[in-house]
Amino acid sequence: MDLSNKVAIVTGGASGLGLATTEAYLAKGARVAIFDLNAEQGQAVVARLGANVLFCQVNVSDEGSVQAGIAKTLEAFGAIHIAVNCAGIGGATRTVGKNGPMPLEVFSKVITVNLIGTFNVTRLAAAEMQKNAGNEDGERGVIINTASVAAFDGQIGQVAYSASKGGVVGMTLPLARDLAAIGVRVNTIAPGIFNTPLMNSAPDAVKLPLIEMTQFPKRLGIPDEYAKLAVHLVENGFLNGETIRIDGAIRMAPK
Ligand SMILES: NC(=O)c1ccc[n+]([C@@H]2O[C@H](COP(=O)([O-])OP(=O)(O)OC[C@H]3O[C@@H](n4cnc5c(N)ncnc54)[C@H](O)[C@@H]3O)[C@@H](O)[C@H]2O)c1
Repeated sequence: MDLSNKVAIVTGGASGLGLATTEAYLAKGARVAIFDLNAEQGQAVVARLGANVLFCQVNVSDEGSVQAGIAKTLEAFGAIHIAVNCAGIGGATRTVGKNGPMPLEVFSKVITVNLIGTFNVTRLAAAEMQKNAGNEDGERGVIINTASVAAFDGQIGQVAYSASKGGVVGMTLPLARDLAAIGVRVNTIAPGIFNTPLMNSAPDAVKLPLIEMTQFPKRLGIPDEYAKLAVHLVENGFLNGETIRIDGAIRMAPK
């Protein structure tokens, strides 16, 4: 699919990897609806990037909230061709720590935002995509999810986060199979360690060993490198049902 004149939803688009994707899609001639909880940052992005960006204050894990964001997007831009799921939360809690077992709500919260939120946006966006006229392949839409290398080599304290991202990896193929019937492709990006506000807030004691575990190049990923892949996944019509690591060959140690 060509990005020019298409409409994309980017969840978590007010910051980090989602913001870089928003900018890359705009540069390719798309219009972008940012679905994010953070209204202050979302509105600042719209003020900076102009009329081809729309901010919708959306909680990805809330059905009515996503439906309202989709309605606002359709009203402003008329269709939805692409959905990129970048909204996500982290957190580090051991299964059994100094204060006892991990509170169940800590686990549920991460699953609710990262896994259920991704599925919620995917199902509702795909239902709109099926109304689009297909291209020569009959392609009507493209969905990109964001997992993490923690889906495969989660560290100590990452049990909730890894489970949520493992769920995103696990649903990629069945989503692609379900949505093949309506001409929608689904792929997942599994980033290594990227230089975003999420990662920047971590202390050096967390960051430096992760850079050391990255094989080459020995640095954090640049959000634009994620965005380039998010562009390619839209443009390359034969990529479907796959999870792609973009990680400088990191394999994370237990801690
Ligand atoms: N930065 C990394 O190193 C890294 C590595 C692997 C995976 N990831 C994943 O990439 C994605 C983007 O991460 P980032 O580093 O850009 O993070 P970030 O914190 O910079 O941006 C995440 C955005 O998601 C929004 N958000 C959070 N909960 C939301 C909700 N319920 N509804 C709507 N918006 C919500 C936040 O407001 C924020 O703007 C996340 O899913 C994260 O797990 C990041």
